Amino acid sequence: MTVNNTEPVIKATHLTKEFVVNKKSKGIRGAIINLFVTDKTIKKAVDDISFEVNKGEIIGFIGPNGAGKSTTIKMMCGILNPTSGEVLIKGLSPQKQRQEIVKDLGVVFGQRSQLYWDLRLGESFELLRRIYQVDVRKYDDNMEELDRILNINEIINTPVRQLSLGQRMRGDLAAAMLHSPSVLFLDEPTIGLDVEVKYAIRKFIKEINK
Ligand SMILES: Nc1ncnc2c1ncn2[C@@H]1O[C@H](COP(=O)(O)OP(=O)(O)O)[C@@H](O)[C@H]1O
Ligand SMILES: [Mg+2]
Repeated sequence: MTVNNTEPVIKATHLTKEFVVNKKSKGIRGAIINLFVTDKTIKKAVDDISFEVNKGEIIGFIGPNGAGKSTTIKMMCGILNPTSGEVLIKGLSPQKQRQEIVKDLGVVFGQRSQLYWDLRLGESFELLRRIYQVDVRKYDDNMEELDRILNINEIINTPVRQLSLGQRMRGDLAAAMLHSPSVLFLDEPTIGLDVEVKYAIRKFIKEINK
């Protein structure tokens, strides 16, 4: 660790997110009422959190369903705007300076996939490579490394729709890393996976952090 790297990589200050939701009346009568009047309430999903993450740190959020973990990740990668407070990644706002920071972020939502359902895994990667404008040499180096950790080559020619959940997750992790971002967000990356794949993913997180 270098001494001049005192600036945290992620700095969240008083991060808060409120959603405006329609209050639903119950029953058939309620359904009809809802057509005409919408009673709005405010739902506080993230309530004033502040934290810092330094270079090389691996941080996990734990909390029950609905605690606000995914919402926090979405604010950190710029998908959602905070209601108040702010987050800075390497001093840049993922909301205001999206263009500059996006190349340095990787994100995996376990419940979703950024792979293209109709393409082979390798074709999906090639598309992402072009989107992120990663040059071929760098991409090949990254892929070699990712294959070593995630055994990507054995599934590279398989259409994404035919991948098992665990294989798909390995593909998604590789996809999130192919432009070698310095920050990686993982939201439930091991959901529904068997212990063996869970272990492989933990190993991946440790290895990729080196
Ligand atoms: N787009 C949205 N609109 C309204 N409410 C939302 C939205 N997204 C999340 N929420 C609510 O915010 C709370 C936190 O959700 P979430 O961040 O997904 O929790 P977690 O990931 O910890 O399970 C939940 O009560 C959820 O219903
Ligand atoms: Mg969640």
